[in-house]
Amino acid sequence: MEETALLTLYARALDSRAPQPILGDGGSEQIAAGIDYDFAGLGLVTSVVCQTALRTKMLDDRVRLFTAAHPDAVVVDLGAGLDDGMFRVEPPAAVDWYSVDLPAVIALRDRLLPARARAYSVPGSLTDERWLEAIPAERPVILTANGLLAFLNEQEIISLFRQVTGHFQAGELAFNDYGRIGWVSRAAVKLAPQRMFKAVSHQWSGYPGFKDARWPEVWNPRLKLVEETSLAHAPEVELFPTWLRVATRLSGRIPSMARKARILRYSF
Ligand SMILES: C[S@@+](CC[C@H](N)C(=O)[O-])C[C@H]1O[C@@H](n2cnc3c(N)ncnc32)[C@H](O)[C@@H]1O
Repeated sequence: MEETALLTLYARALDSRAPQPILGDGGSEQIAAGIDYDFAGLGLVTSVVCQTALRTKMLDDRVRLFTAAHPDAVVVDLGAGLDDGMFRVEPPAAVDWYSVDLPAVIALRDRLLPARARAYSVPGSLTDERWLEAIPAERPVILTANGLLAFLNEQEIISLFRQVTGHFQAGELAFNDYGRIGWVSRAAVKLAPQRMFKAVSHQWSGYPGFKDARWPEVWNPRLKLVEETSLAHAPEVELFPTWLRVATRLSGRIPSMARKARILRYSF
């Protein structure tokens, strides 16, 4: 499970090496350099590098907008892994930034990431509501989940969203999503030869996903959908290599394909 944080870290590092990076997170290269791990052996494919960089950029942009409008905000990165989003976003000085992940990942994070004022690590599982105890509830909050939800089952996601709206008074929840997850997506992950897919092999177990972005409102009536955006429609797709750019733009014309990589945002 924790290995997946190394995968997205390395995807950001590879993006930063590209002549025209999408995210341009040079710090991820330094963090990866501090870990004795065969990153190259993951066999990360270009499409995953570009998609990881793009969804991270899109979530960063949402956090930038929210914290600009609420300079006293709290940011919560759910399943933060080794991602140094605070460094990229550079929020206003009074923003507090909480990174929640499993204890082993947080231990690595605390060892490798530079300490920052107003940045806090929260070790714990998001399936256990004690992670909330450390985080102020009354300030405007934006919670992001980048690459997390694929590792929780549907009941755990519903329960997490209820914990969020039960604890925090008001804010936004933004995450990347894969639409309805059918057997083709599951089989593709299981059967692909690259080691990177082995690292994520338990994603989507017990989670069918959903097509209608309003579905989480049914799980939790306090959530109101405010945005559904496909990665395939983002301007940064222009920075993808030609073959991937063409394929991505074409997929963006087919709604069921466009939903396979989307950013969803809800207010509460
Ligand atoms: C694909 S990684 C993404 C990490 C980071 N958001 C990024 O973009 O680099 C998924 C992360 O979710 C974390 N995770 C999975 N299940 C979790 C749980 N129950 N509680 C907390 N974190 C969890 C993993 O440890 C891992 O760091």
